[in-house]
Amino acid sequence: MLLERLLQQQGFGTRKECRSLIRDGRFAMQGEICADPFREMGDLPEGSEFAVDGIFWPYHAKAVIMLNKPSGYECSRRALHYPGVHILLPPQFSRRALECVGRLDVETTGLLLLTDDGQLLHQLISPRKKVPKRYRALLAEELLAEARQKLLTGVILKNESTPTLAEAVDLGKNDARILYMTLTEGRYHQVRRMLAAVGNHVAALCRVGIGALELPADLPEGSWRWMNKTDLNLLWGK
Ligand code: URA
Repeated sequence: MLLERLLQQQGFGTRKECRSLIRDGRFAMQGEICADPFREMGDLPEGSEFAVDGIFWPYHAKAVIMLNKPSGYECSRRALHYPGVHILLPPQFSRRALECVGRLDVETTGLLLLTDDGQLLHQLISPRKKVPKRYRALLAEELLAEARQKLLTGVILKNESTPTLAEAVDLGKNDARILYMTLTEGRYHQVRRMLAAVGNHVAALCRVGIGALELPADLPEGSWRWMNKTDLNLLWGK
């Protein structure tokens, strides 16, 4: 692949913009500036580092990242009422048209994956794959045993006819208002509506895991990082 094409694919601008960026001596690899936009780059190994304006960036043919989503952001590239999560990320990702893998409500926080890998996106959101998603909810009222049982056996959500159920429902150790719930479906506002269906109310909601991948404790709200091989394996339960 030609260098200018590679930079374009990595989200550094249009082909023309990348050509002039390179000609201006702003691109370097292995400590050396390369000012030839038509340099043949061959097959770059995943993770190879290059620098633009002295800032290092790893090469990834397909981008897969995780974000610890804060409250107050929409999971949409055309956000309407709140800022979109994309403004929390470097602009390269918007140019690469990263899509959210399963949206979170504006108020929901926690683990959000984004990718420009259409196949991966499809696999992760496909209802047939049943990738489990784990949520931690703070409830308005303590969850009663009967309500817990209903969540596990199936509740009918408002305006729906088929029941939906949780794979697992666990209460917090010291607080019965903290609930951990695992879902394999992705219905609209599902956690909030399930709790409403059993007469409770979700005061705060955080997605803490997808598959066996957990929201890293060292990833602060509003921060992102690349997904590595281990993360991807955990996602698929490998
Ligand atoms: N269920 C909800 O109600 N909201 C989310 O953001 C995710 C799951």
